[in-house]
Amino acid sequence: MAPSHDHNPGLLSRPRRLRRSPELRDLVAETALSAGDLIQGVFVQPGKGVKQEISSMPGVFRYSTDTLVEHARELEQAGVKGVMVFGIPETKDELGTGAHVHDGIVQRALEALKKAGSKLVLVADTCFCEYTSTGHCGVISKDKLSVVDNDKTLTELEKVAVSQANAGADVIAPSGMMDGTVATLRIALDGAGHSHIPILMYSVKYSSAYYGPFREAAEGAPKFGDRRSYQMDPRNGREALVEAKLDLEEGADILMVKPALAYLDIIRRVRELSDRPVAAYNVSGEYSMVKAAAQKGWIDEKAVVIENLTAMRRAGADFIVTYHAPDAARWLAGK
Ligand code: PBG
Ligand code: ZN
Repeated sequence: MAPSHDHNPGLLSRPRRLRRSPELRDLVAETALSAGDLIQGVFVQPGKGVKQEISSMPGVFRYSTDTLVEHARELEQAGVKGVMVFGIPETKDELGTGAHVHDGIVQRALEALKKAGSKLVLVADTCFCEYTSTGHCGVISKDKLSVVDNDKTLTELEKVAVSQANAGADVIAPSGMMDGTVATLRIALDGAGHSHIPILMYSVKYSSAYYGPFREAAEGAPKFGDRRSYQMDPRNGREALVEAKLDLEEGADILMVKPALAYLDIIRRVRELSDRPVAAYNVSGEYSMVKAAAQKGWIDEKAVVIENLTAMRRAGADFIVTYHAPDAARWLAGK
């Protein structure tokens, strides 16, 4: 029989009981966030001794390969798990050949990091937009409305993935949203002796205004049109599952959702679809908004960043690609 509660009926269950002390709150916490869940996005360009701040992303820099190696050492010491490497090449051309030449900027950065003994998980962003004179994520199509030719792009993309794996990438992360990417790259990687290299697929990448600062950072803005014929429409949720299921069938090892904060529902739906790891990409615009408000003194940066990253984990992300990684790692360590 339930005890009598003459003085306060209906309050047998009081959720506040478990919030009374920090210890109780820790004991029943459902979600954990640690530095080991974080991957830092990094930008590398030709040159030596470069450390150039990206104006729309305060605290994020473009490095040359030598300074990137130093930065990687700091990230590793802070407990960050990996880096997602983006390259800014010296020259661009119509096919984006700079993305797969053997002395390409990302290839050289990967080699330098491996040579320096970095233990970071080296993730290569596998796409063309930083390398094409058009700023698009592949070969331009004869069909104007399609903008990018899907299958011609896949043929070129094989070269990028294989050259990145040859240079030391631990993970290949195709971000161009071409249909059939995973199957094509899986076969190409296997054929080149890289059957052990996982594919982290940008499965669900929305056509988002949150990529603005990144396009400045990586000089990868489209010179004409937009990416809406290949990236996803923000109005669609079910379609994300179509994309994710295809990538699973084609052999994707990890599924990524991007951006993160405006798409937490999608992270949750992809999480429930499969038992494969799910990643979230906390993109440049999401970073810049927090930094700008913090610089104005309008929000508590540390608290907001931890809250945002925790929300991504709670939604179902196993790990997060984020430019906040070094700061968050420090804060999580209590420094
Ligand atoms: C391009 C690419 C983009 C990002 C990663 N790879 C942007 C785009 O589609 O223009 C965005 C990353 C960010 O905003 O932080 N394939
Ligand atoms: Zn691209």
